[in-house]
Amino acid sequence: MTISQLSTNHLLGIEHLQKADIEKIFATAEQFLEVINRPIKKVPSLRDVTIANLFFENSTRTKLSFQLAEKRLSADVINFSASSSSVNKGETLLDTVNNILSMKVDMVVIRHPSPGVPHYLSKHIQAHIINAGDGTHEHPTQALLDAFSMRQTLGDLRGKKIALIGDILHSRVALSNIFCLKKLGAHIEVCGPPTLIPKYIDSLGVRISYDLRSTLAWCDVANVLRIQLERQDQRFFPSLREYIRYYGIHLEMLNQLDKPIVIMHPGPINRGIELTSDVADSSHSIILDQVQNGVAVRMAVLYLLGTQLH
Ligand code: NCD
Repeated sequence: MTISQLSTNHLLGIEHLQKADIEKIFATAEQFLEVINRPIKKVPSLRDVTIANLFFENSTRTKLSFQLAEKRLSADVINFSASSSSVNKGETLLDTVNNILSMKVDMVVIRHPSPGVPHYLSKHIQAHIINAGDGTHEHPTQALLDAFSMRQTLGDLRGKKIALIGDILHSRVALSNIFCLKKLGAHIEVCGPPTLIPKYIDSLGVRISYDLRSTLAWCDVANVLRIQLERQDQRFFPSLREYIRYYGIHLEMLNQLDKPIVIMHPGPINRGIELTSDVADSSHSIILDQVQNGVAVRMAVLYLLGTQLH
């Protein structure tokens, strides 16, 4: 594999990433996708590189996906979960991280409930930082794997119509998707109840819709997002039943469209809320491809940043 470098030492978000970086990550992920489908799935690219996965917030897919990507690249990996650590004994974030770094860690993958934590760390510690989700702010590797999966299905995303549906206000996936897809030339519409669409969204150059059926009729891809109940400190809609009535996607809706539509979801899915099981498991859905691509895209990010060490 030829080594080409990214314009940055950290992946903190998509907002300030260059389009050329995104293209480099995709081209590298393409090659890793081929590697992870071989009988021998491991390459020695990050041998002698030590990576710490620091998860201060729950995660299934993202954590497993990063761990698998690191192992496929032969990195040495240490894992840390806030729920079972000394953070509960009052240690500061910087102390926790500095202790981990004195164990000679080269790269840190961090998920944290507070926006900006990966950016703060990148200014205070030596290691290369990858943001695995910072509160409601950004989730760059999810946006990269989403765009990569869309491209795999639809080809060049220039002029393609992508809808982000659901809880836009609390979703870091929405914000990172918007930054990424705009750089790749797609048209974007956000759709959800007015209370879950932030006022600033206008300034990002996206269309806004409150009507699910018209959004589904418009788009080539519907990326459906979870209602982030754990981040909602007030009632943003009267009841889940009402949310489902207006914004839940079911198969009959898609069949009535009379045109192809691709359904995506970053997971975890609340089956029966944002979409029904028959939609999640239908031929429209590329949800499991997203998971497979996630490993290849994360391998690409780790590899490209890893080759820039020292
Ligand atoms: C997303 C996340 O954590 O932001 N999930 C994920 O990374 N697989 C979306 C979500 O939690 O709804």
